[in-house]
Amino acid sequence: MKIGIIGAGNMGAGLGKLWAKAGHQVVFSYSRDENKLWDLATSAGATAKAATVQEAAAQDVILIAVWLPALAEVIDAAGTLDGKIVITCISGLQPDFTGQTIGLATDLKISVAETIQQLIPHAKVVEAFNTTFAEIIASDSRKFGSDVPSVFYCGDDSEAKQITARLIEDCGYEAVDAGNLLVARTLETLATAWVQFAVASQQFPNLGLKAVRR
Ligand SMILES: NC(=O)c1ccc[n+]([C@@H]2O[C@H](COP(=O)([O-])OP(=O)(O)OC[C@H]3O[C@@H](n4cnc5c(N)ncnc54)[C@H](OP(=O)(O)O)[C@@H]3O)[C@@H](O)[C@H]2O)c1
Repeated sequence: MKIGIIGAGNMGAGLGKLWAKAGHQVVFSYSRDENKLWDLATSAGATAKAATVQEAAAQDVILIAVWLPALAEVIDAAGTLDGKIVITCISGLQPDFTGQTIGLATDLKISVAETIQQLIPHAKVVEAFNTTFAEIIASDSRKFGSDVPSVFYCGDDSEAKQITARLIEDCGYEAVDAGNLLVARTLETLATAWVQFAVASQQFPNLGLKAVRR
């Protein structure tokens, strides 16, 4: 796949590297440090490059991996995203970890993912990766012993969800379909609770969330 990454921080860099390693073409963008972008693209390998937000947004699948306050700016900078698969990993946690942006006294009445879908109505928005930690993405393996953590994803377009599921598996996670985009309201809240539990229990970031079955 041709994947554009908007936000070259912990999540964007980590996922982009894993996708490049899996053979995808990856375009990294959106850092305040251009050299960081070039170094990242070089370390990700021959199928990766650094470019503008517009070029990243021109790929088939776009990962938006920025903090919520930067969302409007990157959507504006991206240009048209019509027809694109847009994966968001934005959890709704405040950048300083002090609390969440959803369900409290903020002006965000719906999930971040639904907000993105409203901003870019002709894109196919999927929420994924917000219940895992960047440190796990950056480590040598996603596994905890023999356990493979789950990554829950939700969205309204079935093809976009299938492609996202494959990209989740390419990173070494189990992909779990959590439902339509409306589910993002609770998935983003779960992600916030998960981070806060990990920090409060002093196990951050060495935790993986897994759907177990019988
Ligand atoms: N970290 C996690 O474990 C985790 C897990 C699940 C979900 N998430 C979600 O993923 C999103 C990204 O998290 P992250 O940990 O990858 O964040 P991060 O490391 O801070 O990365 C944010 C990226 O946005 C870029 N950026 C460009 N302009 C910016 C500006 N004016 N202000 C701030 N950043 C700017 C940063 O640029 P620079 O390169 O110049 O810093 C950086 O590349 C967040 O919404 C978070 O809720 C994170």
